[in-house]
Order: sequence, then structure tokens, then C-alpha cells
Amino acid sequence: MTTYRGRIITFTDSRKIEDFEGYMQVEHGIIKKLSKEKITGEYEDYRDYLILPGFIDTHVHLPQVAIRGKWSDDLLKWLENYVFPEEKRFLDEDYARKMSRRFFGELVRNGTTSAMVYGPPSRESTEAAYEIADEYGINVFMGQTLMDMNVPDELKTSTKKAVEDVGYMAERRENYVLTLRFAPSCSMELMRETAKIAKLYDLRIQTHISEQKGEIEVVKEIFNKGYANVYDTAGVLTPKTVLAHGIHLSEEELRLISSRGSKIAHCPSSNFFLHSGVMKMKNMRKHGISVGLGSDIAGGPYINMMEVMRDAYYANPLSPMEIFRLLTLGGAEVLGISDVTGTLEPGKYGDFTIVKYEGETTEDILANLTFYGNENRIVGTYSHGRQVWGK
Ligand code: GUN
Ligand code: ZN
Repeated sequence: MTTYRGRIITFTDSRKIEDFEGYMQVEHGIIKKLSKEKITGEYEDYRDYLILPGFIDTHVHLPQVAIRGKWSDDLLKWLENYVFPEEKRFLDEDYARKMSRRFFGELVRNGTTSAMVYGPPSRESTEAAYEIADEYGINVFMGQTLMDMNVPDELKTSTKKAVEDVGYMAERRENYVLTLRFAPSCSMELMRETAKIAKLYDLRIQTHISEQKGEIEVVKEIFNKGYANVYDTAGVLTPKTVLAHGIHLSEEELRLISSRGSKIAHCPSSNFFLHSGVMKMKNMRKHGISVGLGSDIAGGPYINMMEVMRDAYYANPLSPMEIFRLLTLGGAEVLGISDVTGTLEPGKYGDFTIVKYEGETTEDILANLTFYGNENRIVGTYSHGRQVWGK
């Protein structure tokens, strides 16, 4: 049992924000008690710091950790010129291991304790990446990035092998995610057959949707249908599906996604970096679609979620409180883990981040984090009550 003292700011499951100087007690990885009064016994003293729920990144690409800053304003050219050549290198399991160490190391240094991750392009290298993730002990939801067309041959997985691999991983990893790159590089057969396995094992699914206009045209040419309809026909739109971007969706597509209960990973830094456009939060609200924040490394240049918060503000006029909710409770809802993390409340995992702060009121503090937050603010990261990083 360990007690932590600090300024605790968290949303609660009832969507209220709490902010108080106090104590949090964690036992066997689970939060037992929060209190404004001193809890008897020793405590870890973070009295000049914030204790925040661990940050949640709902969309990030592990094999792109080394190509941050490679820029383009054309998604398809960017993929071809930078992403595919780098992802090919991840077929080598040693390289995958080395870069996974760098990736998960950076996540915890930046206060992220839960992430939905696009893994390497093979099942074997993704298993290696999972082994490294285990060493860090954070909540990782990941799958190998599946594709079978319009990409270099080395990156392709046949439907037959994909079906075998997805079943194999689902048997071994409860956090395994069916990861379909996006419709322009996945045949209907690949999507449909793997979605059947996902249904069988009740897996999470992740893919990209409606990020850039040129990409949307390609989808129309290949499938003769709108983007959301393609996924729906394949059985990919489920309540456990996380769709990245969703910038240019029509009303009809938004209605369809909402009716299927699928979620959106909003990646504002990426959307600015690749000049994809601006996702309108009011569209998601109107249709009752859940939204979390994603760094989308390396489409987005920042792995630190406070920098993504800043871009979320520039994309939509949201209050710092609302953006903090998207990062924490919102992200947990999108990943289907709000029963165990995303807020600091008794019964949840001891997933929290210790952060240097400035300001007096809740709003001032969260605004300061949103506009000036970066890696240097993070003093310690705890996952399931264990310190996974600390200065
Ligand atoms: N669409 C398909 N693949 C990718 C990717 O790796 N990054 C981004 N931003 N969009 C994609
Ligand atoms: Zn992405």
C-alpha cells in the first residue's frame, strides 16, 4: 500500500471535474481511497505537483517513431516516400525490438499510460513489440498493421495468413486489436474475413477514415462506395472500432458510424501537419460519437499528449477542461477501458502522471498545460501502481 500526496485533478465517471490538495492511496495496483485529509502512515510527497490520470493516446503508430518530422501535404505520397520504407525495416524483429524500446520509453516519459497502437507490419514483429510493452507495464492495445494492396509487396499479408495470425494473436493477447491500415490498402476480402475473426473473439478494431480528400477519391474509385459504407459492408464498424481522423465525413456517414457505436480518434496535430483539414467536434457531438485524442505519430510530430491538447484547442474552440476530459475519460471511453482507468477514483488502476504546474485555479492550470505543456513537465509516470518512469 502506498499513499501519494499532491494536487489531484481528475474527471469522475459522472463527468464532474475534481481538483483538490490531498492524498491518494493505491494497493495492489488499484486506487483504494482519495482524501483531502491526511491518511495515516508514510506517503510519497508530490505536494508541489499535480497528480493527473495517466494520459491516453487513442491512435499512434509504433513503427513511425523514427520518422517524426518527415513532412508532406499529401498523405498518399507521404506514406509512399517515408512510411512504407521505414515500416519495411520492422520486418526485422531485432529492429522492431530496438525501436519498440524507444517507442514505449518515450510514451512513459511523456506520461502516457494507455495507448492504442498500430504495430509493425508482421505478426512476429508485433509479438516482439508486445514483449517490450510488457516490460513497461502500461495498457497497450495493438495489432500488426494489415495491408494487401497498393503497398510494397513486403508489407502485404494475404487474407489466409491474416486470418490465421489474427486468431493466433487473439488467443494469446487479450488487448490484441484487428488493425487494418485503411481501405486504400486493404481488399474487401481481407477486411471482411478478418472482421469475422474479430467478431468471433470480440476484438477491438482500428483503422483510418476520411483523412484527406485525395484518399477519399481513391476509396470511391476502388470500391465504388463512400468510405464509411466500405467499412460497414466489410463488417468493420462495431462498438469496439476506433476510427482515426474522420475529418471529411458526410452527415450520412456520421449517422452510420453513430448507429454502429464506433468511436473517433481525433488527431489534430497530424491533421495540421499533413494539412488534412480540421475535424469539426460539433459534428461528433451532434451525432453522439465518442471522441478521444491521438498523437498519430508520425503523421503528428508530438508524442507528448499536452502538445496534442494544444492543437485540439486550435482545431476547435473547446475549453481546457473539455480538452483534458477528451485526453483522459474521453480516451478511456473510446478504448472501452473507462471502468478501469481514465479517472482517479477508487477501484480504478493506479495509472497516473506527476506533472509540474503553474496557475491557481483549475482552469488556469489546465490552460497552462494545454498551451505550454511539454515533456519537461512530466516528473513521474505510474501504471497499475508501479512507477514506470521518474526523474
Ligand atoms: N492512413 C493510412 N495509413 C496511415 C498512416 O500511417 N498515418 C496516417 N496519418 N494516415 C494513414
Ligand atoms: Zn494514423
